[in-house]
Amino acid sequence: SAVFFLTLSFSEVLGCVMSAERRVNGSEGESVEIKCNYPDGYQYKKKYWCRHPCGNKDVLIKTGKTDTVVSVGRFSLFDNVSSRTFTVTMSRLTLQDTGVYYCGLEQWGTDRLSKIDLRVRKGLGCVTSAERRVSGSEGGSVEIRCDYPDGYQYKEKYWCRHPCGNKDVLIKTGKTDTVVSVGRFSLFVNISVRTFTVTMSRLTLQDTGVYYCGLEQWGPDKYTEMLLRVTEHTQGKNQSMTVSILSTSMPVTVLMDITKTAAMDSSTQSA
Ligand SMILES: *[C@@H]1O[C@H](CO)[C@@H](O)[C@H](O)[C@H]1NC(C)=O
Ligand SMILES: *[C@@H]1O[C@H](CO)[C@@H](O)[C@H](O)[C@H]1NC(C)=O
Ligand SMILES: *[C@@H]1O[C@H](CO)[C@@H](O)[C@H](O)[C@H]1NC(C)=O
Ligand SMILES: *[C@@H]1O[C@H](CO)[C@@H](O)[C@H](O)[C@H]1NC(C)=O
Repeated sequence: SAVFFLTLSFSEVLGCVMSAERRVNGSEGESVEIKCNYPDGYQYKKKYWCRHPCGNKDVLIKTGKTDTVVSVGRFSLFDNVSSRTFTVTMSRLTLQDTGVYYCGLEQWGTDRLSKIDLRVRKGLGCVTSAERRVSGSEGGSVEIRCDYPDGYQYKEKYWCRHPCGNKDVLIKTGKTDTVVSVGRFSLFVNISVRTFTVTMSRLTLQDTGVYYCGLEQWGPDKYTEMLLRVTEHTQGKNQSMTVSILSTSMPVTVLMDITKTAAMDSSTQSA
């Protein structure tokens, strides 16, 4: 069977710098574009895009048409014969789209596939920073400070655990300059410095996971992702406090403008 070498280089689109990986990060609600290069001789073969395990029912879009945009629901495919590239666009991404996909080329015998890992993140997939990890120890507390942009002063703020559905919201408030507590969680919105501070206390190892600082707004809410790691406490139950500062200070206009994350996929055949 055919083996592919993928050389993926990611272009810079609206400030999102992607690294050379065969992974593509997309953001919920947005689109991702995957370019699949194919070798000479495949110009008039059918091209497709499928999800793992890529059986017949996993084919999301397939066409033999060239130089024409073909669309099926959220998917579109455009085969540019002169550049031997077909471009797949997946739009209105959801978290459930996270998974393994393939660019496929139909041929006699086993089709040629090249694999891509797609990861869909909440909110602004382009904002990444080193402060997105916080660690605490069992029995202790962590404090997470989330910055929010101008204009969000009176919007509701919340803290939720992945995947951040309604039942995953741990604490939420529209109150400002008042500590609001719910069980082990507390939230304090400081309006003058535009931050809100979430405190999680009596940490357990099960608290390790992905969380989000959320800002309610019209349309999809705005999120900042954070990874919390709770480590075993070995020396008694001292209260340890880690402060992490997260910034959700990207202007709203930028949030609305990010529509595409482009990934280039060039494939060449080996044995
Ligand atoms: C995608 O996100 C993961 C996790 O945040 C990160 O490690 C990886 O570098 C990102 N990949 C790209 C291509 O941005
Ligand atoms: C095909 O790709 C080439 C090279 O990138 C480009 O110049 C050309 O405009 C594309 N053709 C179409 C129909 O988009
Ligand atoms: C808000 O934060 C500023 C700067 O850290 C601080 O001086 C002020 O006292 C805080 N406001 C409240 C109500 O705690
Ligand atoms: C607990 O914290 C206090 C104050 O930070 C410190 O003096 C003490 O040594 C700590 N105890 C343990 C067991 O770590």
